[in-house]
Amino acid sequence: MGKVYVFDHPLIQHKLTYIRDTSTGTKEFRELVDEVATLMAFEITRDMPLEEVEINTPVSKATSKVLSGKKLGIVPILRAGIGMVDGILKLIPAAKVGHVGLYRDPETLMPVEYYIKLPSDVEEREFIVVDPMLATGGSAIEAIHSLKKRGAVNIKFMCLIAAPEGVDALKEAHPDVDIYIAALDEKLNDHGYIVPGLGDAGDRLFGTK
Ligand code: URA
Repeated sequence: MGKVYVFDHPLIQHKLTYIRDTSTGTKEFRELVDEVATLMAFEITRDMPLEEVEINTPVSKATSKVLSGKKLGIVPILRAGIGMVDGILKLIPAAKVGHVGLYRDPETLMPVEYYIKLPSDVEEREFIVVDPMLATGGSAIEAIHSLKKRGAVNIKFMCLIAAPEGVDALKEAHPDVDIYIAALDEKLNDHGYIVPGLGDAGDRLFGTK
């Protein structure tokens, strides 16, 4: 079963408070999401494998460590996931960025893929699928299905705020995927919003409403 990590780092929790607050405007909201994504990327890469290389410092020969694992791919779920990409790229600038877009079928209410573009070497990469909110889990589950259908085998999911309902659904649908969360909230309300949450992440990131 995939593991669930909730990042309780004080800096992440502090910034999340301002992200949640309704008086935080679009510019500051976007900057804070970017900063939290960077901090989460630092934590999420903690288990990256290293290998030793020989180098020359100005003083002596030395054995030192460099990253040795699979190359990374970041896949934001359109549209709110885009707000987390630059923050991750600050720490992992060589990562490739794919995109997946989903809409909700008005009859079945199920998410349906309308757009996908991934790096060509899907099997070789480790992917981080990102979306600020894990609410019912429907979009995350479908996005990860879309990646797996195209050959991805190594996938993590990262979000700012999750509802317990979404975490349970994602764990059940994709037990191989580890989930990284900045805050696990109380519940979903009748409109599918996370409580207390932050409102509509896409609208707050892009200033639409
Ligand atoms: N998507 C959002 O943007 N906010 C929520 O609370 C739930 C889903």
